[in-house]
Amino acid sequence: MTEDFHRPVMVLETMSHLLQDRPSIHLDCTLGDGGHALEVLRRSPETFVIGFDVDGEALSVAKERLDREFGGRFLALKADYRRLPEVLAGLGVPRVDTVLYDLGVSSRQLDSPERGFSYWGDGPLDMRMDPEKGTTARDILMTYSGEELARILRDYGEERFARRIVREILKVREEREIDTADVLVDIVKRAIPVGARTGGGHPARKTFQALRIEVNNELGLLQRAILDGFYHLRPGGVMAVLSYHSLEDRVVKSTFRSLSESGEARRVTLKPVTPEAEEVETNPRARSAKLRVVKREMRHDTFI
Ligand SMILES: C[S@@+](CC[C@H](N)C(=O)[O-])C[C@H]1O[C@@H](n2cnc3c(N)ncnc32)[C@H](O)[C@@H]1O
Repeated sequence: MTEDFHRPVMVLETMSHLLQDRPSIHLDCTLGDGGHALEVLRRSPETFVIGFDVDGEALSVAKERLDREFGGRFLALKADYRRLPEVLAGLGVPRVDTVLYDLGVSSRQLDSPERGFSYWGDGPLDMRMDPEKGTTARDILMTYSGEELARILRDYGEERFARRIVREILKVREEREIDTADVLVDIVKRAIPVGARTGGGHPARKTFQALRIEVNNELGLLQRAILDGFYHLRPGGVMAVLSYHSLEDRVVKSTFRSLSESGEARRVTLKPVTPEAEEVETNPRARSAKLRVVKREMRHDTFI
């Protein structure tokens, strides 16, 4: 376990919406290494933070990091945000003041070749955020039909060469296991036209993104999860969501729009907030980040 923590994205922008100057509860649905949670604890001395993550390693890192300084004001739980209502009910917490979703994958996960998220090196194609359960990327590549694989690459990776890549996957898997990152990268490089192999980022980036989304069912139930977070806010409470690709942002945008149209929420950000050039320069992973924020309106039926 390294002390090289994931660098939280758009800290000032998120904190400007989440900080409270009175006793309050903040729910961090994607604790990761605890970077955003740390800022909340530091800057809002009367706030108690509850953090969820499905990744046991991230939880150990965050706990060790935050317990030292903020032990009494912080609780980290191995919990899936798609089970938010039952987890909060189990804690006896009916309402929170602020909620943060920082979607996607952490640098710790990306930079650990043994987790299989990264296209660098010969790590096993795993990609599970919770390595204790679920299907690995290797299993998907070796067992899904050509149609299913093409759908995943197209829908979750927006990969224009999906068919060509799938054809190559089907051919290679007849002969050998597709079980490490370098084997998959070779397949993608062979399948796509020569001109597409350079420029526009790593040629296998979209394929890896698509597989990661499928392995972790990242888009399934995302709208439900965001609504669950929202309906656990007290009236006047604030929810912030950081997303990193257009598919996620589309779900966040449409969920916030319908909450605003029904009069239950006020959109604090009408357009998504994006990071300053300076942040992108020092942390390239912030490049695609989009921040959207809503505030829960006070309504006669809020408590029903
Ligand atoms: C971008 S990182 C969060 C980084 C964090 N804000 C920080 O500053 O260190 C996203 C985290 O969400 C976690 N995650 C992904 N899906 C989840 C889910 N369904 N429930 C809870 N946590 C999840 C991942 O394991 C990962 O640690």
